[in-house]
Amino acid sequence: MTEQNAHCDIGFIGLGVMGKNLALNLADNGYTIAAFDLDHQKVDDVLAADANENTTDSPRIVPCHLFTELLGKLTAPHLIILSIPAGAPVDDVCGKLIDAGIKADDIIVDTGNSLWTDTVEREKRYRGKFNFFTTAVSGGEVGARFGPSLMPSGDPYAWARIEPVWHAIAAKVDPETGRALERTSHDQPLTVGEPCATYIGPAGSGHYVKMVHNGIEYADMQMICEAYHIMRESLKMTPIQIAEIFEQWNNGVLNSYLMEISAEVLREFDEETKLPLVDVILDKAGQKGTGLWTAVSALQVGAPATTIAQSVFARSLSTLKHARIRAAKLLKGPEITPVKTTEHASIIEQVHDALYCSKIVAYAQGFQLIKLAAREQNWPIDFGSIAKIWRAGCIIRAAFLQKITDAYDRDSDLGNLLLDEYFAGEIAKHQHNWRQAIAKATIDGIPCGAFSSALAYYDSYRMETLPANLLQAQRDFFGAHTFERVDKLAGKKYHVTWSQDKREMLEVE
Ligand code: 6PG
Repeated sequence: MTEQNAHCDIGFIGLGVMGKNLALNLADNGYTIAAFDLDHQKVDDVLAADANENTTDSPRIVPCHLFTELLGKLTAPHLIILSIPAGAPVDDVCGKLIDAGIKADDIIVDTGNSLWTDTVEREKRYRGKFNFFTTAVSGGEVGARFGPSLMPSGDPYAWARIEPVWHAIAAKVDPETGRALERTSHDQPLTVGEPCATYIGPAGSGHYVKMVHNGIEYADMQMICEAYHIMRESLKMTPIQIAEIFEQWNNGVLNSYLMEISAEVLREFDEETKLPLVDVILDKAGQKGTGLWTAVSALQVGAPATTIAQSVFARSLSTLKHARIRAAKLLKGPEITPVKTTEHASIIEQVHDALYCSKIVAYAQGFQLIKLAAREQNWPIDFGSIAKIWRAGCIIRAAFLQKITDAYDRDSDLGNLLLDEYFAGEIAKHQHNWRQAIAKATIDGIPCGAFSSALAYYDSYRMETLPANLLQAQRDFFGAHTFERVDKLAGKKYHVTWSQDKREMLEVE
């Protein structure tokens, strides 16, 4: 290796859809990339894309076909970004880089959707061999190309090196309006605005936050689908009519990327059948696992993320297509109550408000989950900055995120978003409609589990007394599990001698 060869700023491993676009985004921002993929065709593809877009005189992306060749092309200490599938491939590549001679002060950044506990383990496993850092990326292929939302975590030393790189390529927000700044041209990177990339905390925390982002994404998507379903079934609206409603909603408080793309989807027709595209897509939802991880973690830390979990279950239920086809013939439901044309507008308004209030609850659950996990893991999380980096670039980006940012500006230690004056006021204003929409759907037999679970969460959270007192008595009855009393010191445990003829209340601890 000659000094001349070692001229690239960043090594990039994994040139699939996300990797290729991240590499090109880095190149747009002036970084020279040494690019590697086990599939040599992918290396050729990124070179071809770069040849089309490179307006400078020198090559921005240098091809590599061996790990040693990649290391030889990088300036030291090496900075290597991985965009490869989560799980075993990450350790496989790390092992190959160790064999190729990576050093203790070199940095490897995993940008895949890794399970956060794997990240914690990896950081320990590779300590002393190289610096294992992670950055969870949201935004899909367009986000990766023109500005994603980035959730980095790990060693602060590595962060100091990566920060300017991530700030350069991340989506940017206008600090005055909180709105995303548009970057659609490859040769004009955005150099102004607040970057959607902030250091989240110690190893694992960035992937945890991204996992919850995806949990909220699941809820957001499911709730839009429920709004669609009620309009389609109860109001007998066509996909195009619903697209028009979604477009209107996208101009108000429900403005979001997911709302925008849902309208676009509903406007699309299938070439072959001439039917609305949505009607030829099989109603079985896929999932790669991040929503499930969120629900599992919520159960583990005792965070009631019911709407997020419900959205994962809704996907599972959708996959039982054969069983549903049989059940549709056997299981009776109610007749759909016809709606007068004059009542359409008010029902649509109710569905709007159900979506809005449920969305507030889903975000409240997501942030509450991060808060409980952060407490357990000792992560010093800044919730305001998470809301800030989700304002642009990521899949759940929405006008709404600015309101969450404002809420954390008012109180950085906010226990629950629902307690913020703005959100409490919004729900108070819209809850009647929220309840009406769920009532209509329930009477018509249209499932709206995410809306209903969000409302049940809201009603449970605002209830000073829940029937958990009866539940505690049941537990004590059959298992002597004890209970606390409302009128005695917290922590003091009592048991009733239920099985004896003469029942007595005993103070047990
Ligand atoms: C993002 C997305 C991204 C990916 C999900 C899809 O933030 O860019 O969330 O991570 O699209 O993994 O997940 P499912 O396949 O589970 O829907």
